[in-house]
Amino acid sequence: MAVVDTGPRNIVLDDLTTHNIKQLAKINTAVFPIHYTEKFYKDGLESSIHFQKLAYFNDIVVGGICVRLEDSSSLEVGKSQQTIKQDDVQKAPLKRIYIMTLGVLTPYRRYGIGRKLLEWVVDLAKNTVGCNGIFLHVQTNNFPAKEFYETQGFTTRGEIHKNYYTRIEPADAYLLGYDIEPLTKEEKDQRDKEIRRQQQEVIEAEKLKNAQEKAKDCSDQPCCASKPPTKRGKGRRKR
Ligand SMILES: CC(C)(COP(=O)(O)OP(=O)(O)OC[C@H]1O[C@@H](n2cnc3c(N)ncnc32)[C@H](O)[C@@H]1OP(=O)(O)O)[C@@H](O)C(=O)NCCC(=O)NCCS
Repeated sequence: MAVVDTGPRNIVLDDLTTHNIKQLAKINTAVFPIHYTEKFYKDGLESSIHFQKLAYFNDIVVGGICVRLEDSSSLEVGKSQQTIKQDDVQKAPLKRIYIMTLGVLTPYRRYGIGRKLLEWVVDLAKNTVGCNGIFLHVQTNNFPAKEFYETQGFTTRGEIHKNYYTRIEPADAYLLGYDIEPLTKEEKDQRDKEIRRQQQEVIEAEKLKNAQEKAKDCSDQPCCASKPPTKRGKGRRKR
């Protein structure tokens, strides 16, 4: 594996937009044996049940993730995208997150980028009302990916899924999963309220600090500390 550099490693995640969508497509083309159409990415951006992130290593896009919500009561995990109706998924009392793609360019692997992308998904799952797990398929020969997910707490679910893939070999896949304690609507409201309260506290503290600094600047300037009366003013009072 090529060594990227030995300098500082700044790993940042950012949103996918219409402007950088092609970068994710290029990464996935380089990383996965499956070709995803431009429609796949565009549909994802416009959908309320799809979520994506790009990973930057020192300002260069080197990885990305695409996930979607599914109805947990549907037995077919990771079923074809066309058959999923957004409204049905949104209304489902229990939902799961399905990882469609998570990939990092080869020279940038083992720098913690995959872990960071996965932490983002876990956070997303924990903050989504009714989300009870995260799932994905890996090809049975993809040992590095299986090991990666296992080190992050994922476990194999059920038997090997025979002929899961239609156009690549081997066609068989493992289903891996990570359980999440579902968040209730009340807990989510409470959490959001607490976040807003903390944000307000930060704003107030910032305002106070600015006001104190302004007052200090002012008192450092003798000219505005006590303004002497003007001659005109004095004259008028005498009269
Ligand atoms: C799987 C993949 C996303 C991992 O990304 P990454 O950025 O290299 O992973 P990280 O550096 O965050 O690794 C976190 C931990 O996972 C484990 N791990 C990652 N890659 C591993 C490998 N090739 N072999 C064994 N363990 C591995 C290690 O414990 C690692 O921690 P360490 O480096 O401190 O030992 C990357 O290898 C990849 O893009 N593979 C091709 C695409 C793919 O198969 N995706 C999965 C299916 S969606």
